[in-house]
Amino acid sequence: MNESANKILVTSALPYANGPIHLGHLVEYIQTDIWVRFQKMQDHDCIYVCADDAHGTPIMIKAREEGIPAQQLIERIGQEHQRDFADFHIEFDNYHSTHSDENRYYSELIYARLKQSGHIASRTVIDLYDPEQQMFLPDRFIKGECPHCGAQDQYGDSCEECGATYTPAELKNARSAISGAAPEKRENLHYFFRLSNFEPILRGWASEGHVQKQIARKLDEWFSTGLREWDISRDAPYWGFEIPDAPGKYFYVWLDAPIGYMASYRQYCDRKGLDFDAIWGPESQAELYHFIGKDIAYFHTLFWPAMLHGAGFRKPTAVYCHGFLTVDGQKMSKSRGTFIKARTYLDHLNPEYLRYYFAAKLGSGIDDIDLNLEDFMRRVNSDLVGKVVNIASRCAGFINKRYAGQLAEEIDEPEFYREFTQAAKGISKHYQGREFGHAMREIMTLADRANQYIDEQKPWVLAKQQGQEEHLQQVCSIGLNLFRILVNFLKPVLPELANKSEQFLNIAPLHWNDGQNPLIGHTINKFKPLMTRVERKAIDAMIEDSSKHLAPTANEPGANGPLDQAPIGKTISFEDFTKLDLRIARIEKAEYVSGADKLLRLTLDLGGEKRNVFAGIKAAYSVEDLEGRLTVMVANLAPRKMRFGTSEGMVLAAGPGDKDIFLLKPDEGAEPGMRVK
Ligand code: 2FM
Ligand code: ZN
Repeated sequence: MNESANKILVTSALPYANGPIHLGHLVEYIQTDIWVRFQKMQDHDCIYVCADDAHGTPIMIKAREEGIPAQQLIERIGQEHQRDFADFHIEFDNYHSTHSDENRYYSELIYARLKQSGHIASRTVIDLYDPEQQMFLPDRFIKGECPHCGAQDQYGDSCEECGATYTPAELKNARSAISGAAPEKRENLHYFFRLSNFEPILRGWASEGHVQKQIARKLDEWFSTGLREWDISRDAPYWGFEIPDAPGKYFYVWLDAPIGYMASYRQYCDRKGLDFDAIWGPESQAELYHFIGKDIAYFHTLFWPAMLHGAGFRKPTAVYCHGFLTVDGQKMSKSRGTFIKARTYLDHLNPEYLRYYFAAKLGSGIDDIDLNLEDFMRRVNSDLVGKVVNIASRCAGFINKRYAGQLAEEIDEPEFYREFTQAAKGISKHYQGREFGHAMREIMTLADRANQYIDEQKPWVLAKQQGQEEHLQQVCSIGLNLFRILVNFLKPVLPELANKSEQFLNIAPLHWNDGQNPLIGHTINKFKPLMTRVERKAIDAMIEDSSKHLAPTANEPGANGPLDQAPIGKTISFEDFTKLDLRIARIEKAEYVSGADKLLRLTLDLGGEKRNVFAGIKAAYSVEDLEGRLTVMVANLAPRKMRFGTSEGMVLAAGPGDKDIFLLKPDEGAEPGMRVK
């Protein structure tokens, strides 16, 4: 599929411009970047583009909350994203925004062509309308009880408790998540993309090896349940592109998001004077690859190829899905401090550690990958520092000091050297097939062989023996040549390590398979440490930072002592309010805390689950008054490290302070663990 003369365009999914990049995102950008760097190292004409996904309701709402125009928000976040990517060595050829002239142009063009060919329908549907905000409510901004299982506080499209899907109009006791008002049902005109018109095309495309096996099976399921029309319009106020000839109607964010791939490439072409159609034209033989998360496969393997085909563009060569990231075996969690932002990671750790760890775990399938922090530290230290970099540090000193940096004139062990160069083919196959884990294992087996060779030859012993000068130079020259090959193989994953090694070895930037000819009679530069060990305290500090910046800073009982009677401050949105998980808790045990003037330590029973909470209520209650009592607590507050231990929640109390603090008491009949609404 991948002839070297061919043009290749690669994309990663466009991150939403309403929040920071986190480690979950980075799985994909690191995966794609490694693949692209591997292509470029083989001198393939490969271009990697991306953009911020800058439209949609969540961005509009976030800008409102911050009191700034959406334009300002997306510019700021776009800059932050690009800084994070650059610092993780994700090297895009172009990075744009879906809120751009190019994207408006292609969105309008694709829509007009689809409409002209009869692939767009319009009809009236019943929508929910917020009478206070005077707007139609998108599904995610309606909350209520699940019509199937009765679970409270569910979104307008699906229930997180029982998994049922439904329309917002079916929710019971629906409320606007923006104003809290009961929405009204109103007729509203919508525009739809007739996906089912493309079923034969899509079935053909899906059967031609453009998607992974697991996704092909998923597509079979989707075909058999039937392809439904896709609602592509949203109503004002909406942050996006207005639909031509449909005042007050906007393209749904997911319509113009993938078109952002084209827009970013268009901007690149304009910058470089290149022909856009060579990639996107209907007859293009170029290769087009989209790397995405498995959660957005429907958009990329049905809507997207159908839109492209219907509008006279080519379809993707392949859509490559990956799984989600877990940390220490669990979903990333703000309260456990494992929801780690890219920037927080960078504040504490070297980005190449993570690039290597992800590479070691990544395969071509859609399984989730786990960042086990203990394993992360062990593996990076043992493989990169203990094996790879160690080869150079074991050999360089002798060459630098005893031979003025000069390597031997020939390699005495050509067979042994060839073992390494011949591995290039297999490793190359693994990179090409996105089996990075296999590639890393092969590279580390070679690193073991190189270290074993040095162990056997014992240069530190040779250095003390008379008449072994040539032999010592030979051994260290072989060691450094093997190191050069390993760095060459690792370069797509570790560009910075490769860069430093190229400087140290005094060589031009390595291309794939440059190791075929060894460095002989060549002068290297002075060795400087190439990578340091991962320190446990850096990981701990990162986790602590991750829980800290997500923890509240307001005046809390147990944190700052007496409650103050502050005037009622800035309002919070209903959406913010719904984030609070208030629960009935039984105070199982109350204890004095030695050295604390105001705090009591409470052991709370949440209907099975136990929590340790510090509360600043010592002046108001003695411990025996508290035990056995029910109160209300915030159950989803991030744990906070305090001087006396970690507090895992907060009990709610009111009053001016000191003796007058009153724990909130639930009505009779309340049970530990019950939700408070
Ligand atoms: O799921 C997401 O984060 C989307 N912003 C991805 C868009 S990918 C492409 F279609 F633009
Ligand atoms: Zn339900």
